[in-house]
Amino acid sequence: MSDDREGHARRFRSALGAFATGVTIVTTRDEQGRDIGLTANSFNSVSLDPPMVLWSLAKNARSLPAFLAAPHFAVHVLAADQEELSLRFATRGSEKFSGLDLERGPSQVPLLRGCSARFQCRTAFRHEGGDHVIFVGAVESFDHSDRQPLVFHGGRYALAVQKEPVPLDSAEPDSSFSQDFLIYLLGRARFQLFLSLRRDLEQHGLSEAQWFVLSILGVSDDRTVAELDRLLWYTGQRVTYELLASLTAAGFADLHGSYDPNARVTLTGTGRRAVIELVAAAKAAEDHAERNLGTAEARVLKRALRAIIRETDPGAPPLPNPTYFE
Ligand SMILES: Cc1cc2nc3c(=O)[nH]c(=O)nc-3n(C[C@H](O)[C@H](O)[C@H](O)COP(=O)(O)O)c2cc1C
Repeated sequence: MSDDREGHARRFRSALGAFATGVTIVTTRDEQGRDIGLTANSFNSVSLDPPMVLWSLAKNARSLPAFLAAPHFAVHVLAADQEELSLRFATRGSEKFSGLDLERGPSQVPLLRGCSARFQCRTAFRHEGGDHVIFVGAVESFDHSDRQPLVFHGGRYALAVQKEPVPLDSAEPDSSFSQDFLIYLLGRARFQLFLSLRRDLEQHGLSEAQWFVLSILGVSDDRTVAELDRLLWYTGQRVTYELLASLTAAGFADLHGSYDPNARVTLTGTGRRAVIELVAAAKAAEDHAERNLGTAEARVLKRALRAIIRETDPGAPPLPNPTYFE
């Protein structure tokens, strides 16, 4: 292809990428009884009555002869957590179906599990479409779940986050400053999330500062007083020898060494058990707080929080990998 045509093709592709789509895997079975499938985002609805859908297949795809001959195919609308499956079915010549737990549709067409929706189709029409063949399927049966969909946009996988409805009085500026004030939102969410955990801490006789130390030791045991102080500096709480001595007195930790910043501290068995219990309680509080968020919203929220943590990081050292359950 000449530079000009290549540039044109690239720009055409990126213009098409502006159209956000879902991601599907289309499957069928060939005349030799082999399972065939590929990732396709050219899927679309065609007709409601009778129910019909379409998708297009590149003429150079290995699966073309199988789809041309097949009386049936199935379209699987992928869920947000099925990106790996999408990659697998977009890779030529890979063992696409190996290890998958399949169901079977008409003509033994392989059906994948865990999708947002599935359409089992009879091949109704085929149309010429340039370097693609357009397949129109008459939908014979379908099912769907409330799993959030995987999205493809601008050549990348994306998540669908629902927009908030536009308020009726959107012309008016927001009169309540605090409603959208990030520090207020983060602060309030953090304190409210901690309310239930605080009750669990009280049951163990632990202060928040003591809990912070225990949770760090749960992730990475055997630290000096000075290291703990540096790791927790961003919380505004200071880790002192006295704080650690109070954990030792309560049986949660052992202090090794004299009264200096290099004294080392390790969790006791009681300390480790308390950490595991409290981490489970924190996880339950998190699940409760997230229960009305979709998977996509929760992931986007965490990504945004990580970005804020990065931007505001005063230089806290990174933590090694957790050792809770070793
Ligand atoms: C998100 C995404 C969407 C795709 N959509 C299509 C499509 O609509 N039609 C198509 O022919 N190929 C599409 N492809 C490329 C095929 O999945 C890929 O070429 C696959 O390897 C073809 O398999 P085959 O050669 O074994 O038939 C897409 C790939 C990705 C990652």
